Amino acid sequence: MTDLLPAQTERWRGMEDQIHALMKQYAYQEIRTPLLEASELYVKSVGEQTDIVQKEQYRFEDKNGDWITLRPEGTASVVRSLVQNTLWEEGRITRLYYMGPMFRRERPQKGRYRQFHQFGLECFGSHAPSLDVEVILVLSRLAEMFGLTAPKLKLNSLGDLPSRAVYRDVLLTYLEKHRDALDETTRERMAENPLRAFDSKAPETQAVMSAAPILLDYISDDERAHFDHVRSHLENLNIAYEVDPKIVRGLDYYTHTVFEMVSQDLGSQNAVGGGGRYNHLVASMGGKSCPAVGFAMGLERLLMIAHLKEQSKVRKLVAFPLCPEAESGALRLCEKVRDLGDYEVEWIPGKSSLKAALRLADKVNADYAVFVGETELAASEFMLKEMQSGEQSRHSATALCNWLIQHKEATRL
Ligand code: HAM
Repeated sequence: MTDLLPAQTERWRGMEDQIHALMKQYAYQEIRTPLLEASELYVKSVGEQTDIVQKEQYRFEDKNGDWITLRPEGTASVVRSLVQNTLWEEGRITRLYYMGPMFRRERPQKGRYRQFHQFGLECFGSHAPSLDVEVILVLSRLAEMFGLTAPKLKLNSLGDLPSRAVYRDVLLTYLEKHRDALDETTRERMAENPLRAFDSKAPETQAVMSAAPILLDYISDDERAHFDHVRSHLENLNIAYEVDPKIVRGLDYYTHTVFEMVSQDLGSQNAVGGGGRYNHLVASMGGKSCPAVGFAMGLERLLMIAHLKEQSKVRKLVAFPLCPEAESGALRLCEKVRDLGDYEVEWIPGKSSLKAALRLADKVNADYAVFVGETELAASEFMLKEMQSGEQSRHSATALCNWLIQHKEATRL
């Protein structure tokens, strides 16, 4: 878990602001859910046999005996809230997004943290393949907006539950046949969830999996038609992708389309974002039958590889009252400059020497420094120093504000 220090938070906020603005353009509304949920929620949604639930939860017993989990992802909470607050009506589409910290007790490494941040969106209420495409469009637009170099979109279809059940047996039979060639972890967990064998990093298992039967060969005609629709929309929109049968996702709720965006710039934790369709989750949590699709992106990973555009710099003014009697007037001036709207104004009391004040103004990267000593106070004026040129001038409060406005216009021209 890391502190986001002042040197980083500005970049974070710039990224968050751009994401909020993008969401408005796609008609998604923000939802904020609690960081804590009943542990049961993740067993029912993410799945009992997944790494997230088995190994990575921050889970504790509350004083009244309830089991609580720090949220490891956002989809489950959003679905819970959708059902509890009736945010979706039949015949409508509900579009929601969220941003915030998630918690997984994974082995930390570059790009993998125990508290990390996700931006995610969820689109409820339609089976239309064009909505799978809408969420993929947002993902690729974000990649473009943040200047990712050569991101890759990987696509697969997991079909629906009956085809998956058939495939599961086929895969399990194959794995049993090659049992001796598999790594120990895969052998131990394959009976519970054979698809996870595709996620194994062990070279001996990867060799076995490269010749394994694939789910795409077992999906029904309807499921294939859905997948083909998604693919042709993507092609018509010039969104590059590759079908990768190994994308099985580490969470149990998916059906039909699944996808991941990866970037070679990230190293071994190369997934920037991932998601897919989940047509049964809402109903399994007590809601009506409501198809849905969404994705989430890791914001730390996004920032690691983003090429952000320079944000326009706000000019900085520092104000130094050089004697206590000058403070009220200088505070009033600061308020006036803040009212102009374009300045960062920093108040630094307690300096009596001009030389020390100037040194500090330089250190805090000020564009302008304003001083009031006894001479200026007597004349109801302020001394203004332009830090770059070194020029000094004396003004009344109003004249100083006018000077700042004119100077800004002039430098813009
Ligand atoms: P996920 O693939 O588990 O999906 O996580 C999405 C993204 O979160 C990953 O691609 C990665 O960038 C980031 N991430 C995950 N774990 C970590 C970590 N320990 N440290 C840093 N970044 C991490 C989900 O969470 C689904 N809820 C996505 C979704 C939304 N599916 C449908 N709707």
